Amino acid sequence: MSAILPPAERLWWKHPLDRVEGTWIAIALVWCLIMFAMMVGWHIYGSQNLSTETYKTTPEQYAKKAQAMVDKYTIRTETADNIPVVAPPPGSDVYLTARLWNFWPIIELEKDKTYRLHLSSMDYNHGFSLQPVNINIQIVPGYEHVVKVTPNKSGTYSIVCNEYCGINHHTMVSRLYVK
Ligand code: CUA
Repeated sequence: MSAILPPAERLWWKHPLDRVEGTWIAIALVWCLIMFAMMVGWHIYGSQNLSTETYKTTPEQYAKKAQAMVDKYTIRTETADNIPVVAPPPGSDVYLTARLWNFWPIIELEKDKTYRLHLSSMDYNHGFSLQPVNINIQIVPGYEHVVKVTPNKSGTYSIVCNEYCGINHHTMVSRLYVK
């Protein structure tokens, strides 16, 4: 028999299993199971992974909730575009809106307090990359992601859109204050 001719027995699962082959299959299977268990473990214990709750929404519904929060908790405006800076009370729901090509509003949180941060997009896919803590979440239109956040260090954090969203993608940046 040679490699260029088909084998006498064409059905591969009828070939006897070589010992080395069997060993590799067993190793691969055990590794798969370990990786599977680690996914669950990271989800529960990993500090690097944020587990988001996700709900269906529409841009109109989401914009309404974000607007209500901005109307209630704006403390000042910033930048040339007069973007409102909101400081919602600890424990409350905070809404960040992504759209071509900005984040709205600017959020100010208190250190060591827990918030429910909501993320949604008004148009296309955007990204929420929080630096320098390196948190990464996709912002998807039609869906509302909710992340529990407890900032443990005060300062000014950068928010960067890390999903390519068109000609001005590189200008889609914002900030988040922790007092
Ligand atoms: Cu939004 Cu890139």
